[in-house]
Amino acid sequence: MIYFDYASTTPVRAEVLEAYEKILHTYYANADSLHQEGRKVHTLLEQSRANIAQLFHVRPSEILYASCASEANNYALKGFALANQNRGKHIITSCAEHSSIQSSARQLEEVFGFEVTYLPLHADGRVHLEDVKQALRKDTILVSIMLVNNETGCINPIEEIATYVHAHSRAVVHSDMVQGLGKMTLPLAAVDMATFSAHKIFGLKGSGILYHREHLRLLALISAGQQEGGLRGGTSNAPTEIVFAKTLRLALEEQEAHIAHVRELNAYARAQLQTVRDIEINSPAEALPFILNFSCLSIGSEIMLNALDARGICVSAQSTCNSRGKAISHVLLAMGKDQLRATHAVRLSFSHLSTRQEIDFFIRALKEIIDEYATR
Ligand SMILES: Cc1ncc(COP(=O)(O)O)c(C=O)c1O
Repeated sequence: MIYFDYASTTPVRAEVLEAYEKILHTYYANADSLHQEGRKVHTLLEQSRANIAQLFHVRPSEILYASCASEANNYALKGFALANQNRGKHIITSCAEHSSIQSSARQLEEVFGFEVTYLPLHADGRVHLEDVKQALRKDTILVSIMLVNNETGCINPIEEIATYVHAHSRAVVHSDMVQGLGKMTLPLAAVDMATFSAHKIFGLKGSGILYHREHLRLLALISAGQQEGGLRGGTSNAPTEIVFAKTLRLALEEQEAHIAHVRELNAYARAQLQTVRDIEINSPAEALPFILNFSCLSIGSEIMLNALDARGICVSAQSTCNSRGKAISHVLLAMGKDQLRATHAVRLSFSHLSTRQEIDFFIRALKEIIDEYATR
């Protein structure tokens, strides 16, 4: 099997799994129980929060554990907007965000009477500061723009956007940094909130984080007990949350080596793709090398994915969360690519585990599939 779908999810690394199993067996008490076993778990949980905060150069009280990045994005959008609607009801986001941002924004519009401006993408696959400037209003309370697009790897100018928004408004800036973590230097200091997911960095599924500046008011989306400062009730998923710190530390320690490996691999894959007929590369050269999006103009995404799958190669067409919808990439359309390219897209996503041999195998399979299925 060849796995080129690391942007969708990653396998758990052995060190994380080992730590998780140990904690699961030993520290099963409720982190909020007052007895000594509960206190031990609570201490580990808070130690993990402190370690995460240290790795991000923020305060422990600014780290909110969540069940996934989708949940953290819901907190950033709905949790923030609903708690701050007295200051204004306008939000700016982009048309290319993850479904957890898009659906939250829609819900704020349709159910809670907010107004949302969806910024376009440009041909470079990025949101441009000019558009943010135009959209910013007196009643804008939140600007949420992702750092790295999950379909193309395009990197948005978050620092530039946040600096402008902070200088010209009272709006808060959130960035979904899920696809950037462990893969680039993060502009975390520039933003007020940011979202992360453990399973994209060889950690556990069901584990996300929202970084939120201490002074920000958020509404509790799960009303229950005192957990997570009262913002997110329910018995803490302590073992999962405790190993986030280790997952993050390992990802950051190895970041430079991973980037170097994947950069080289991406260049190799691009060069090899140039030798295949009907292929147009959609990810610009400046995109994050971990994601490489292309279209095969003679074969639709679905047929291509199935044909690759039959040869033991795992790839995606678009965001995995939209994979059961219609096979058209709204991100590519938003970049100005035509309908053909948007319905014929394939997303390769790499990691430090990916190899040249895998690329070679993939390219051979791609050529065979095109010879067999091409419609032109
Ligand atoms: C950019 C982006 N944001 C958010 C998510 C959601 O992450 P999770 O699966 O942890 O909810 C994903 C996952 O595909 C993503 O790519």
